[in-house]
Amino acid sequence: MRISVIGCGYLGAVHAAAMASIGHEVVGIDVDERKVAALSAGRAPFFEPGLPEILAEGIASGRLTFTTDMAAASGARVHFVGVGTPQQKDGYAADLTYVNAAIDALLPHLSPGDVVAGKSTVPVGTAASLAPRVEATGATLVWNPEFLREGFAVQDTIDPDRLVVGVAGGEDAAGVLREVYAPAVAGGTPFIVTDLATAELVKVAANAFLATKISFINAMAEIAEVTGADVTQLADAIGHDVRIGRRFLGAGIGFGGGCLPKDIRAFSARAEELGRGESVAFLREVDEINLRRRDRAVQLVVDGLGGQVYEKRITVLGAAFKPHSDDIRDSPALDVAVRLHGLGARVTVTDPEALANAARVHPQLTYVHDRDEALTGADAVVLVTEWDEYRRQLSPSHAATLAAGRVVVDGRNALDPAAWRAAGWTYFGMGRP
Ligand code: UGA
Repeated sequence: MRISVIGCGYLGAVHAAAMASIGHEVVGIDVDERKVAALSAGRAPFFEPGLPEILAEGIASGRLTFTTDMAAASGARVHFVGVGTPQQKDGYAADLTYVNAAIDALLPHLSPGDVVAGKSTVPVGTAASLAPRVEATGATLVWNPEFLREGFAVQDTIDPDRLVVGVAGGEDAAGVLREVYAPAVAGGTPFIVTDLATAELVKVAANAFLATKISFINAMAEIAEVTGADVTQLADAIGHDVRIGRRFLGAGIGFGGGCLPKDIRAFSARAEELGRGESVAFLREVDEINLRRRDRAVQLVVDGLGGQVYEKRITVLGAAFKPHSDDIRDSPALDVAVRLHGLGARVTVTDPEALANAARVHPQLTYVHDRDEALTGADAVVLVTEWDEYRRQLSPSHAATLAAGRVVVDGRNALDPAAWRAAGWTYFGMGRP
């Protein structure tokens, strides 16, 4: 099928390449000329495992192209819209500027029978408000939210755990998307057809639930901290209950990234607009618990270094908001580094992929690519992104030969406390004795 993908960021670039890899003829369209040039040359503009391979394959096959020219959308049967919906500068609500601009730019290139499939995460009610403009061209608007995780985006797009399509009228348009996703559907992926509002809500509800789950365990970490309990054992124990499940019960410095934080805030703002602010008032608490964990990590470093960090050399392991990503949007890891720097510490940050992005936004920190070089001379070591390079491949005895001090703060509860203590370190975890 001929497909256009409007917006070639984390979501759109992966979606375009993945659609080409399952056999469609795809054009990715973005206003950013540099991004389009990179993608056209087969270079992923961000780190995402597996993306360079499917980009190269798609371009070589001739099925995948990128352009800044919206006219290239004409002739496609399905137009996916995957532009960003960031948090507004002066509030919690989502900024829909890019969605509106993308739809307006697309309208002149639509033909009767086309399907416009929104993928961006939008406040409930957005699709219904956009539909009349799309329908005036004879095309149909559906909402097809995206559940991909950065770091696993290619796999999540080609083989998702569910497909959700919200439609306004009959199921015809949903049938077209069933064709688009034929390999996944044939492989047994549940294909759920809903109305537009439900599809929009499924997405924000899923992210709100995940954020709540993380903040729940971090709230338990706070209680563990004043009682001497161990939140990781608690999570293991309650996680055995299949109704609860162990995943997303990783206590630590909390969630960040381009999705969970802004999505729960936009959900709160939208619920207020709908007169139902109280229904999701708990999301404010979820946000606050999450942000408190960064304070806690900073406090542990201060305590570990005897009450002040001024002029102390602190090595921060990780800058990305999570492993397998170079994304530093709302990264708790980088926030902890910046706060320590603000307290006068000499902070060195290392990360396998995210240093260039981090340096652009926080040039005041020192960045060192080589992990061991970064550790050399450190008075304290702080793990904030659980890359395998730090959690599995860094032996505490080796780290001890490099660092000057023996204080380690494990902001992700990713290290083995017994092993680090045995190598002479004073270990501090999050919600662990
Ligand atoms: C999230 C959702 O998981 C995806 O399903 C969704 O499609 C995506 O947002 C989106 O809206 O586009 P992502 O932002 O890639 O995906 O990252 P997650 O894997 O959800 O992690 C989010 C944050 O939570 C990270 O900072 C991670 O370190 C943190 N986290 C995760 C914890 O602190 N503890 C955990 O147990 C799990």
